Amino acid sequence: MPDRIRLDGRVAVITGAAGVIGRATMGLLAERGAKIVAIDRRQADLEGAISDLPAAAEPIAVAADVTEEEGVKEYVRAAVDKFGTIDVFYNNAGVEGDVKPIQDYSLDAFRRVLDVNVVGVFLGMKHVLPVMLKQNRGSIINTASIAGLVGSPHIAVYSASKHAVIGLTKSAAWECTGTGVRVNCVCPGLIDSRMLSAILQGRAGGNTPYPVEKLVERIPARRLGQGCEVASIVAFLASDEASYVSGSAYTVDGGRTAA
Ligand SMILES: NC(=O)c1ccc[n+]([C@@H]2O[C@H](COP(=O)([O-])OP(=O)(O)OC[C@H]3O[C@@H](n4cnc5c(N)ncnc54)[C@H](O)[C@@H]3O)[C@@H](O)[C@H]2O)c1
Repeated sequence: MPDRIRLDGRVAVITGAAGVIGRATMGLLAERGAKIVAIDRRQADLEGAISDLPAAAEPIAVAADVTEEEGVKEYVRAAVDKFGTIDVFYNNAGVEGDVKPIQDYSLDAFRRVLDVNVVGVFLGMKHVLPVMLKQNRGSIINTASIAGLVGSPHIAVYSASKHAVIGLTKSAAWECTGTGVRVNCVCPGLIDSRMLSAILQGRAGGNTPYPVEKLVERIPARRLGQGCEVASIVAFLASDEASYVSGSAYTVDGGRTAA
């Protein structure tokens, strides 16, 4: 069967592009024919991340902090200057923050997580939407988490921030009523990644983390997910194959939240 999920010539802006999920997604979108604008905090990380993309993706790397409005305006401007448009926006940068019970969580650390995971997602949509609404076309995919659907001990602010991402996504989808702009989010489960390791280490409080074998007992797929498995849902949502999908929160969790 031919691969129907093609993104030939589509311009995709990806934040958190140097991270595990961002990088896997950037690679898949490029493989499917998209042009790539990669955003992350450090230029050197980005240069490494885009180095193995196909030349046809014409990748550009823009270092920006998603919590700073000038930086967000700058990456949107860079994308439009280079390619004339933005068709796909994968609004994915995020942090797990400290891993501690609420009574031990500092206010500064709490605010920092909200700043990246909520303000960063808001600013990205605020400045990409005018480009998409002007052309009456576009797909925004925010990264939430299954922690945005259920509670998550010792990462309460992370969980709260991801609940907020789902709320932002659904509200934005409504605000785009009657336009050709769709807004969705993905809710990854336990993905084999640096972030998951950091959370497990933090929960173990310096002791040996809960073994992965125990962890996967609560996942119907009986394994952790991979970044590429999140990427394939993002590619679908980015494509015309998802033309009737908006305001949704797609779980990619091997069934973890099905119970
Ligand atoms: N790994 C998981 O198990 C998992 C599960 C559910 C959701 N998520 C979400 O998926 C997304 C990607 O996570 P990941 O596992 O690839 O993590 P990661 O830490 O590998 O990647 C996150 C990237 O975001 C970037 N970033 C952080 N703050 C930034 C800022 N202020 N400005 C610009 N870039 C910034 C980081 O530099 C990093 O490259 C995050 O939103 C995360 O919350 C991850």
